[in-house]
Amino acid sequence: MLSERIPVIKEEGEKALHGIKTAAELEVWEVKYLGRKSELNTLLKGLKDLPPEEKKIAGSLANKTKSELLIAFEALKKEISESNTDWTKEAIDVTAPGISVHAGHLHPISRLMHEVEDIFVSMGFAISDGPEVESEHYNFDALNFPKDHPSRDMQDTFWIKQEKKSKDRFLPRTHTSGVQVRFMETHKPPLRVVVPGRVFRNESTDASHEHTFHQFECLMVDVEGKVNVATFKYVAETFFGKFFGKKVNIRLRPSFFPFTEPSFEFDISCILCDGNGCSACKQSGWLEIGGAGMVNQKVFEAAGYKRGAYQGFAWGFGLARLAMMKYKITDIRLLLSGDLRFIRQF
Ligand code: DAH
Repeated sequence: MLSERIPVIKEEGEKALHGIKTAAELEVWEVKYLGRKSELNTLLKGLKDLPPEEKKIAGSLANKTKSELLIAFEALKKEISESNTDWTKEAIDVTAPGISVHAGHLHPISRLMHEVEDIFVSMGFAISDGPEVESEHYNFDALNFPKDHPSRDMQDTFWIKQEKKSKDRFLPRTHTSGVQVRFMETHKPPLRVVVPGRVFRNESTDASHEHTFHQFECLMVDVEGKVNVATFKYVAETFFGKFFGKKVNIRLRPSFFPFTEPSFEFDISCILCDGNGCSACKQSGWLEIGGAGMVNQKVFEAAGYKRGAYQGFAWGFGLARLAMMKYKITDIRLLLSGDLRFIRQF
């Protein structure tokens, strides 16, 4: 009777297992009791020829025995392998020097951006931003650029290929000035805001020109008579004084921008020679920084303000210039080159 033979196999198997000390012995045991040609397996294969009643009893008994032997076998296998492990090799030397993890850091331009934002916030300015892909309306029309202004043409602007249906043309913005209008559409004066942002120009590049760079736009508006050119000069002097950590003078030169009237280019006294003349300022004592002016009333109108009700100044400057001055970088193209040998120096 099969069902009598099975418990005998089990007893024998368990007994044999008890005496085993090595992995090699265990392997022999495994072949004998659990292997394909083991007695137990042969019995299981022969079950199909038994009468149904006996098949049922013997089948479940054989399966149960097989799994019991397997459990006992696995347990012993684990025990043997653990006793063979040299635990001293696994020990951790807590006094060993650590492996330093190379942490990344902010890009010098991002760091400078945060620095500039912090200074403006300390002076009561809000921070706003606008889309990098801008409509022709905000980038040009609302800023009073005449339809045929040369900066709209392919020389300076990367135009985005147009869907036939849309009537607005789109472009990667050429400056952050359009955000002045966006901000004024949703805010009423008095207001003070700065707009950091990335801008794009279709320009050939050299040591001082990039096709992609960062600008800061600054706008302050109040009722007639409260904000004038002197306010701009004071705000700019205060900002650059804080930024460079020393007294900085501002010089305005007449210029033209469609969105300001009057308009200026503005310079700061050279921070390396304090205005005495050096190679950085080409002996002039001044460094060119950006453009500025009193907001053109047409821009106020485009933003939905009543003509003549408000007065304000706006100015814009490039961040790369400040970075180059601060870190003595001689080629603007290094900044966004993605060259880690350059970036890791900051
Ligand atoms: N948007 C001008 C540029 O990118 C810079 C500028 C000039 C900004 C005069 C202003 C401004 O706000 O008043 O060249």
